[in-house]
Amino acid sequence: VSEPLNDTDFQRVRTLLRAHAGIELGPSKYQLVFNRLAAPIRRINALSVKSYLDMLENNAELTQEFINALTTNVTAFFREPHHFITLIASASKPLSELRVWSAGCSTGQEPYSIAIALAQKAPELLRAERPACVLATDIDTNALSFAKEGKYREDQLKGLSKEQLLQFFDALPSGVFQVKKNIRRMVEFKALNLNAPTLRCPWHQVDAVFCRNVMIYFGQDTQRKIIASLLKALNPNGILFSGHSEMLLHSVQDLEALGQTAYVLRSKALTSLC
Ligand SMILES: C[S@@+](CC[C@H](N)C(=O)[O-])C[C@H]1O[C@@H](n2cnc3c(N)ncnc32)[C@H](O)[C@@H]1O
Repeated sequence: VSEPLNDTDFQRVRTLLRAHAGIELGPSKYQLVFNRLAAPIRRINALSVKSYLDMLENNAELTQEFINALTTNVTAFFREPHHFITLIASASKPLSELRVWSAGCSTGQEPYSIAIALAQKAPELLRAERPACVLATDIDTNALSFAKEGKYREDQLKGLSKEQLLQFFDALPSGVFQVKKNIRRMVEFKALNLNAPTLRCPWHQVDAVFCRNVMIYFGQDTQRKIIASLLKALNPNGILFSGHSEMLLHSVQDLEALGQTAYVLRSKALTSLC
């Protein structure tokens, strides 16, 4: 497809992405959309953007590919490192009993950072018979496949100390580093759309939720609806971690600030009204 994206197609892309994923694409994102959809359009030999969009309307596989192409997956190991310190210091239970949800886990760096932080303080979690204690979900199935493999190039390992790299990664002959099996076993990956009509945590109740740098893509109403569902999944005294540009206190009264962009759920009474 060599024709540029016309306004009708662009608005249709925005509507589709909002309806499925809750993601609001800014009105100036023409070029980004065109660049990201070029490969899926080429793959099915669609003659125009319009015919591609017509084809995906009732096709779950093409719709998933469309969503995968348009999500932004930027992430890093131990991004906002203070959150991992807070998790360890303020957990409401012994670390070996903690269950943590990484909602919007992208390519795995966030849930593996949680697993590493927990394993460093509670090495018994590394034992093979222990069930997973980190649930990692994302809407992007390509990001999830990458995450499950847990293989990272050297430039993707910033944020990890030399000791962590030595202890928790295998250096493969290809030059990439793979998260060791005993850490991978601590994480269960699952596809989950946070914008689903009825959002439920696949593990029902958890003690901490990391939902960082995900909400920024959603509109206010979607954010409010999703936060209410995340809080329903949190045990009392559970902790919610959000991204650095996502302030939540104004919207939720039951949360008490716990340092920078970390909140503890003090009472469940009000959230049950959401
Ligand atoms: C910028 S990444 C953030 C990754 C990680 N939480 C971090 O802070 O480093 C945002 C992630 O949110 C995911 N996402 C976007 N919309 C979503 C939705 N409706 N449901 C679940 N995940 C979604 C994207 O696929 C992407 O992997």
